[in-house]
Amino acid sequence: MKIYFAPLEGITGYIFRNIYNDIYGHIDKYFGPFISPSENCPITPKERRDITPENNKGMYLVPQILTCRSDCFIEASKELQAMGYSEVNLNLGCPSGTVCAKGKGAGFLPETLALQKFLDDIYAYGESEGMKISIKTRLGYYNPEEFYDLVDIFNAFPVYELIVHPRIKSDLYKGEPRREFYAYALEHSKNPLVYNGNIYTGKDYEDLSSMFGVSPDPIMLGRGLISDPSLADKLKGLETETDFKKFKLLHDSIYHEYQKIMSPDINVLYKMRELWTYWRILFDGKDRDIKHLLKAKKYAEYDAIVNSILSK
Ligand SMILES: Cc1cc2nc3c(=O)[nH]c(=O)nc-3n(C[C@H](O)[C@H](O)[C@H](O)COP(=O)(O)O)c2cc1C
Repeated sequence: MKIYFAPLEGITGYIFRNIYNDIYGHIDKYFGPFISPSENCPITPKERRDITPENNKGMYLVPQILTCRSDCFIEASKELQAMGYSEVNLNLGCPSGTVCAKGKGAGFLPETLALQKFLDDIYAYGESEGMKISIKTRLGYYNPEEFYDLVDIFNAFPVYELIVHPRIKSDLYKGEPRREFYAYALEHSKNPLVYNGNIYTGKDYEDLSSMFGVSPDPIMLGRGLISDPSLADKLKGLETETDFKKFKLLHDSIYHEYQKIMSPDINVLYKMRELWTYWRILFDGKDRDIKHLLKAKKYAEYDAIVNSILSK
């Protein structure tokens, strides 16, 4: 089974990816949080630092591009190609209001004529330059039935992989994914499919497999893999239990690496707090400690609470 690590802007940057990959590994592809090219600047220095191959050794990374302009997509892809990449991903799923208002991410989905023209351009470039282009999409913007047309549109292009997150824009990341639309894609997509959405446990994966009548493969994991970093190993049959020694190493390494590049304390602690909102499900019965931890303002305070949580 192939497992892809979903892009999570603000979380799965190169520091997290490297540490995760060293401690856990067994991820077939990592997807970078989106690059948002503009006319004058295809890739900003900060974006470049995140995806430069020197900062991503020993892993297969796919950079992701968020734009509704084919010229910007192609310029950014060319820079990525010059850095050594031969696969990029197009973001057609971001539900953020500001992104969608500019016609990007999920905001591009209802503009089907413009989308077709955009895909004509980028796949012509991809074919001529040997760049593989995958797509990460939602079902639609206003309603999930938009997906029927979108599948037809994507079928007209050599989409390297079509990653489907079966929600619409207004679903954000809440509620149950509309899995029945993925079942539709399984029947009607000519392009290779990747399932993404709400896999937190082995049981979630089994339920999907019985619903689809086939085990989805590859799958892309996001919040489930942040929440339980051993989820990929569990799904691949390499681990049965969460290994808390490995978890502690992950925690400590991320914490120390952030301390090297950020200050004051509170900025590092903001980053750690975001992670703990996912990690808390691993620590049943430690709700009070975690509540305090989420309010810690100084390292000393935070360290004492983490030690008490992790000494379980
Ligand atoms: C904080 C956060 C940041 C995200 N950033 C990105 C992003 O940069 N690009 C993208 O395609 N999806 C992004 N996503 C969506 C995830 O990649 C994924 O599709 C979503 O979380 C559903 O999968 P999951 O249920 O396995 O988490 C983000 C989601 C979250 C919660």
